[in-house]
Amino acid sequence: MGGELGAWRWSTIKLFRIAERNGLSNRFLNGAKCAVSVYFLGHRPIRTANGPIFAQVEITNKCNLRCIMCKRYSMFGEGRHMPFDDFKLILEKIPTVTQIHFQGYGEPLLNPQMPDMVSYAREKKLWTSTSTNGLLLSPEKSLSLMEAGLDEIGISVDGSTAKTYQKIRGVNIREVEKNTKRFLKFRNEHGYKTKAWLLGVVMRENIEELPGIVDLAAEWGFDGVVMQHVTHSVEDVPENFGRSVTEDSFDGEKMLIQEAIDRAKSHGLVHVIHSLDYDKGLNCYWPWSGLYINVDGNVSLCSVTYNPVVGNLIKQDFSQVWNSKVMREWRSKLRNHICKGCKFHYYNKQYVI
Ligand SMILES: C[S@@+](CC[C@H](N)C(=O)[O-])C[C@H]1O[C@@H](n2cnc3c(N)ncnc32)[C@H](O)[C@@H]1O
Ligand code: SF4
Repeated sequence: MGGELGAWRWSTIKLFRIAERNGLSNRFLNGAKCAVSVYFLGHRPIRTANGPIFAQVEITNKCNLRCIMCKRYSMFGEGRHMPFDDFKLILEKIPTVTQIHFQGYGEPLLNPQMPDMVSYAREKKLWTSTSTNGLLLSPEKSLSLMEAGLDEIGISVDGSTAKTYQKIRGVNIREVEKNTKRFLKFRNEHGYKTKAWLLGVVMRENIEELPGIVDLAAEWGFDGVVMQHVTHSVEDVPENFGRSVTEDSFDGEKMLIQEAIDRAKSHGLVHVIHSLDYDKGLNCYWPWSGLYINVDGNVSLCSVTYNPVVGNLIKQDFSQVWNSKVMREWRSKLRNHICKGCKFHYYNKQYVI
């Protein structure tokens, strides 16, 4: 069974697996409490007693690409990897977290210690996931990540044709196709459990290829497809502000999105494909249930805004960060819709656990 229902079913399975790994530990109970209060009751206090349930950790801010919609190039020079010891220290400080997402402004597979980090997180019974451009998924790297126990991998593909993919990512789509197919072949042959998603960013440059991207996800053998709209924050590169697809960008965008959803259903793919109905209210849960931690240990509100920094998990204790003055101020601002330019502001609720 595919579709939104499939996405919920997958979330529920994930929840039970986390529970299974943890027994019914405090970590799991905190997660349940946090999920119920934020997702279902919409309870977003300025100071919260619940701890975060997931953390996105930027294990590197080096990258091998320069994609047109990604602000990474405007933020860093060469970049650096997070040392393994810093990663361990950070994990020790966030005992309520049940999921680690290995992703930041960079390509996580560049960090040679990523498989060890995944293994370490799995030893702590954490759910592990990553997003990658897929270009470094060599046979060895694929096997080492699956052997380490990686639970989910999202591979970014923003075009169905070589021309559009090349325009957006600057490289040949055949590389990522080859790597993805091999990764999934190994997984199926060896019986690894890693779920694989195609990740797409919807923008003016590729909106017409949306249905084709969904077909490609099915053809390459992905389990599901996640399509989010290009988003921008105050510190973003200026071009991104004109890149969003809006209701009045041009004719047919709603039909294209609907067609993509219909095709995902017909292929039986689990899918989260965002519509254009942005103004449905505040759904963002990041500052109440998640942490974005960069290579230096700095904690941001979410994965879109690098600033403000609300604290540092290498230099400070968790309690100094989670309800810090800056964090409380920004929770308050978010409740007053400061993040209106961000599509996640309205959609984040769909990424339950
Ligand atoms: C920043 S990248 C890091 C992981 C990896 N390098 C990759 O490309 O998948 C994480 C995800 O953010 C997406 N992304 C980049 N710029 C974006 C933007 N302006 N709005 C929304 N998503 C964006 C990428 O396409 C990718 O799926
Ligand atoms: S989207 Fe990913 S691969 Fe592309 S420049 Fe940004 S971090 Fe690098």
